[in-house]
Formats: sequence, structure tokens, C-alpha cells
Amino acid sequence: MSPLDVTTLNQKFAIPGQLKFTEDVNGLIIACIANEQAQSTISLQGAHVMTFEPVGEKPVIWLSPAAKLVRGKSIRGGVPICWPWFGAHATDSTFPGHGFARTVPWQIVASEVLSDGSTRITFELPQSSIPVAQWPHACQVRSIVTIGKEMTVELITENTGQMMFEIGEALHTYFAISDVNKIRITGLEGCTYLDKVGDWQRRTQAGAVTIAAEVDRLYVNTDSDCLIVDSGHKRCIRIAKRGSLSTVVWNPWVEKATKMGDFGSDTGYCGMVCVESANAAENCVEVPAGATHSLHVTYSIEKTQ
Ligand code: BG6
Repeated sequence: MSPLDVTTLNQKFAIPGQLKFTEDVNGLIIACIANEQAQSTISLQGAHVMTFEPVGEKPVIWLSPAAKLVRGKSIRGGVPICWPWFGAHATDSTFPGHGFARTVPWQIVASEVLSDGSTRITFELPQSSIPVAQWPHACQVRSIVTIGKEMTVELITENTGQMMFEIGEALHTYFAISDVNKIRITGLEGCTYLDKVGDWQRRTQAGAVTIAAEVDRLYVNTDSDCLIVDSGHKRCIRIAKRGSLSTVVWNPWVEKATKMGDFGSDTGYCGMVCVESANAAENCVEVPAGATHSLHVTYSIEKTQ
């Protein structure tokens, strides 16, 4: 089935007063949700949540002011879906970093209003979007996004073939923060991490994570909630996960952000931090034939003084 156009999507899946689909100048289709609890925009390319803003609250998710919405390119910010590998491909460096799922069209298979008034959209990665040379496995991949007071994203991988396969994955979430100098991340104390800016050395996290230079760490064997404690915004963002044993913390800092060119101003990196719920490195997941694996993450706000 080829991806539907915006008119057909609106006929089949729009929800009056809650969900509609629009097309941006580059032809990318965006699901726009506005209900009594929150607002959100999600690009069908990558099933990529771009924004999430609970009513009366500052944005929870960071989207670069210089983000480019272009066919085949990942959007800087939001919640990119890294799948079916995380980072560089294990054996072929010509394959795209973080997998192909974030840069290809997804389709909508369902939309609904839940009993608590939140809005749910189910996205599916169509077979036509899977480059067989990169991923010669039969599978069904869905992302179920629920927008209410909290946001939940569940990435479900079903092995519909006859052979086991292994995946790496991440919800590569960019969070909006007051100032990177005013936050700390708790929940990773005592965990082992692979330090990408330290030659992939294995280190142990002492205390909460604070950021005062480029940080690119893959924490392994941790299923703990993380809290971004943001004294500037007087709030914590809670990241509660199931089906994930890795957490990645990333801030590119000034030099790398400037090189990347899509962080907005020179200080663009100060307003974001990525805390990614993942399965990577030694936590990649084997999915046997006929089995299903789910990565489920809830993002919520807790007010502080
Ligand atoms: C993080 C990686 O997950 O993603 C970083 O740990 C990487 O090394 C970052 O730079 C951004 O990746 P990309 O491909 O979106 O520029």
C-alpha cells in the first residue's frame, strides 16, 4: 500500500476538534493534535514527534528553530525513531546512522480518542519503506503515540518471518530545557557507560549527570526512570520506560553543534538535552520468529519549587 495523500488521510483518520493532517511546503504530511490536555505535531516521515506541549506548560520536546523538514533527511529535534540499529551499522558503514526508519514515510493505521480524552495515533512502517538490502527480514513495525497530559510512545517490532533477527533501537528524544547549565539528570547513578567522547571507554557514573562540555554516553543495563531536574523551569521531566536496557545522554556542546549547522544560533545547544530510551551495544534485542518486542516510554512533567 502506498502512503495516502493528505485529503484521504483527513477523510479516514481526522478527528473533529482533535486531529487533522496538513502538508508542509516540502510535501511532508504532519499530524496536528490539539485536545484539552496538550498539543503535538508529528511528521509521517519517520513517525517523528516534533512537538509536545501540555496545556499551560512550556514545550517538553525541543525542536531546533533551524530544523529542516526535507524528504529523506532526519529532523533535528523531536523524537527521532532509531531502528533497526542504533548509531553506525555494525558491518556496513554506507548504511545510514541510526537506521533508516527515521527518514522514510510511515503510514497511519488507526486514530482514536481514549476514555481520558487523550488522542492516540498508530503508525506503521510500510514494506515499501524498508530497503531490503539493509534489512532483509520480514517484520511489522508500529509506533503508537498517545498525546494527553503525558506523552507515551510505544515502538513495537514483530518478527513475522521464520528466522530470529536482532535489532538496536532508540527513541532519540530531544528535551526542551531552560539552560543546560541548570539541569541535572538523575536515575543513572552507579551505571556503567560507554563514553563516546572518551574513545568508547567503559566508565561508572558518579552521582547525577551534569553537563559542562560535549557529552555522548551510552549507559548499559539500566531500566531505571530518568528525571531531568530543571531548576530554571522549576520542573522535572520524568522519562519512564519499559523494554529498554540502555539510556543515551547526548549534548553536542558548542563546537559540534556549530558544525552540524542545524541547531539554530550559536547557543542553540544550551536549550536541549537528549535522553534516549534505547537498546544498543550489548543490549541489542534478539527477536525470535513469531515474537514481538515492545519499547514503551512515558514522558511527564512534575512541578518543583
Ligand atoms: C546520539 C549519538 O544518539 O545521536 C551521537 O550518541 C550523535 O553520537 C547524535 O551525534 C545525533 O545523531 P544524528 O545522526 O541525528 O546527527
